[in-house]
Amino acid sequence: MRMRLALGTVLALSFIAAALPLHNAQAASVAAGKRVFRQRCAICHSDEKGENKIGPSLFGVVGRKAGTEAGYSYSAANEKSGLTWDEATLDRYLQNPRKVIPGTKMSFPGMPNATQRADVIAFLATLH
Ligand code: HEC
Repeated sequence: MRMRLALGTVLALSFIAAALPLHNAQAASVAAGKRVFRQRCAICHSDEKGENKIGPSLFGVVGRKAGTEAGYSYSAANEKSGLTWDEATLDRYLQNPRKVIPGTKMSFPGMPNATQRADVIAFLATLH
């Protein structure tokens, strides 16, 4: 009887564990986005306020007009793009930067994975 209960619990837990990743994949995850940022963006961008590296600081980027981070020397293409960075423009840009801003000096090929884009944008939105 005891054995049975234990087995039942293990089975139930493994079902829950199997269901969790599916559930997580549906909503943008700040924690996953932070990992994407560290792996794909941090080599060129800081998430600290006012810290420009190869690329401008991404602190406060969501809601910011493109090309306006103080003290950073943008390409003319970025500066004159007329874009404001919100979820939609960031999603298009991160998929294919050179298509959205032809002539950008961001040498990043783009992220085809929509979940990764949504996650990293969710993380960027926390930087305020
Ligand atoms: C190889 C370096 C490099 C990598 C990697 C990189 N970027 Fe950039 N990024 C740049 C540079 C350089 C610019 C400035 C572009 C310009 O002036 O044309 C830029 C500009 C941007 C801008 C526009 C900022 C503004 O103030 O207008 C955003 C948003 C951005 N990057 C997001 C990201 C994200 C998110 C990632 C990771 C998924 C990433 N970048 C990866 C170098 C990089």
